Parts: sequence; structure tokens; C-alpha cells
Amino acid sequence: MNWGLRNRLDRVLPGLPNGTGSVMFAIDHGYFMGPTSGLEDPRKTIVPLLPHADSLMLSRGILQNSIPKRTNIPIVLRVSSGNSILNEDLSNEELCVSIEDAIRLNASAVAFSIYIGGAYEHQTIVEFSKLVNDAHRYGLPVLAVTAVGKDMNRDLRYLSLASRIAVELGADIVKTYYCDGFNELIAACPVPVVIAGGKKLPEAEALQLAHNAVQQGAAGVDMGRNIFQPEAPVAMIQAVRGVVHKNLSPKEAYDLYLTREDGDEHPADS
Ligand code: 5RP
Repeated sequence: MNWGLRNRLDRVLPGLPNGTGSVMFAIDHGYFMGPTSGLEDPRKTIVPLLPHADSLMLSRGILQNSIPKRTNIPIVLRVSSGNSILNEDLSNEELCVSIEDAIRLNASAVAFSIYIGGAYEHQTIVEFSKLVNDAHRYGLPVLAVTAVGKDMNRDLRYLSLASRIAVELGADIVKTYYCDGFNELIAACPVPVVIAGGKKLPEAEALQLAHNAVQQGAAGVDMGRNIFQPEAPVAMIQAVRGVVHKNLSPKEAYDLYLTREDGDEHPADS
């Protein structure tokens, strides 16, 4: 792996060199969902959470308009789009942000959704593969978002298949969902894997999910709604961080969430 690629990968997932997990904070939902609940005023929600996230996954527009320019947080820039929640099929995506723009925006990695089993599977696989060619020319890591779409059966068989295809195509990081037998997915996926949180869960369940994933080999989380939709997002991201960075049990992390439930700003815990 070349120096630039390795260095950027370690910035995006800073837990990698020392074997702990990392907290990537996903706030890209609006690129097809519009003003998602909790992100109606993106800057107001996101800025207090920045000190507690290791990296930020988002679209070009929210980066430019809602993230302070002087932040040091590594950026994972979503570069695929092409549909909205108003359409039945969400898989008709293509590369919509150039590598030059990603570099101009100082992205540390780029993210692209592949729709394995979806109507536009072929298109997204080919576009993803071309993105890997271009991004790697500049030492820019590529994160494959797998298993997105309305009707996907998110079981081990499907998630392993989608994740492994992403690796075979050249992904440097795979984003997928947690499932029963997740350790088997990890064994078949020789690049770092991060999990999405999915729809909002009760906080204790979301922390259990993060715990299960890192215990079974995930390199961390790339969670969104389960961080910014709870009543106390600052407390929640710190609890998730406790699980991922410090190996807190789900109960210890939930207690941490409850004791900080006012959502006040707290110093970063590491
Ligand atoms: C959408 C995405 C989102 O970033 C992803 O779903 C993570 O967010 P959440 O934890 O809310 O599911 O990639 O395509």
C-alpha cells in the first residue's frame, strides 16, 4: 500500500494502527432523503459532535455549507448519487463528484454505494471499479457502501456476498450492516469493515449493536441516525466512542449516556 493511501486510511480510521475501533460519523443521508430528522439544521446538529468523531462521512454540499473550514476532522466524501427517496428504486446511482473536487475539498477518502442485487447492480459495480482506478492514482482510499436499498434481506449470506464483492473490486473500507454470524463476514472480508447503524434504535440497543460489531472484528462504526437522532446526541456519540475506543460494555456505555443525557458539551474522552 502506498504511503498516501496508508496515511489517509489511518486518518479516517485512527484505531487501525493500535487495534482499536474508530468512530466515523455518517451525515450523508440528505443526498437522497432531503432534510432527514435530526439534520434539518445540519450545522447546529453536527458542530457539537465533531470533537467526538474520528471522521465524517458526508456530501459535498453539507461539507461546503455546514462544516467549519478550520476543522481538522478527516472527511470521507460521498461521491455517488443519482436518486431520491421519492422513487421506488434507489439503486440508479453514478459517480457524481470528480476526484479533482474530492482532492480540492481535502477529502481523506471517498465513499460510493454499490447495489448488489439491485436493478442497477452492473452500473454501480462498473462505476465503483473506475472510481477505484482514479482514486488510487492519487492515494485516496475508497469506501464501498454495501447493502443499501429498500428491499435487501440483510442476512449473513447477502451481506457477506456484497461485502466480499466490494473487496474484490478494490474497496479499502467496506461499510455494511451487523448481522448474526458477523464474524464469518469479517473472516471473508480482508479489509477494514465498518457498520451502519440503520434506523434509530433505543440507545441501549444501538450501543449493544456497536459492541457486538467491534467484538466480532469490525474496525468501527459509520453510524448516523443512532447518533444524531437520540435526545442527547453529544452523550450518545461519547457512549458509542466508549464502546468502540475503550471497549466499554454496552451497560457501561449506556450508563455513560444516561449520566450525560443533558446533551451538554463535554470534553472529548480521549
Ligand atoms: C446511506 C448511508 C448512510 O451513511 C448510512 O446509512 C449510515 O447511516 P445510518 O447509521 O443512519 O444507517 O450510507 O446510503
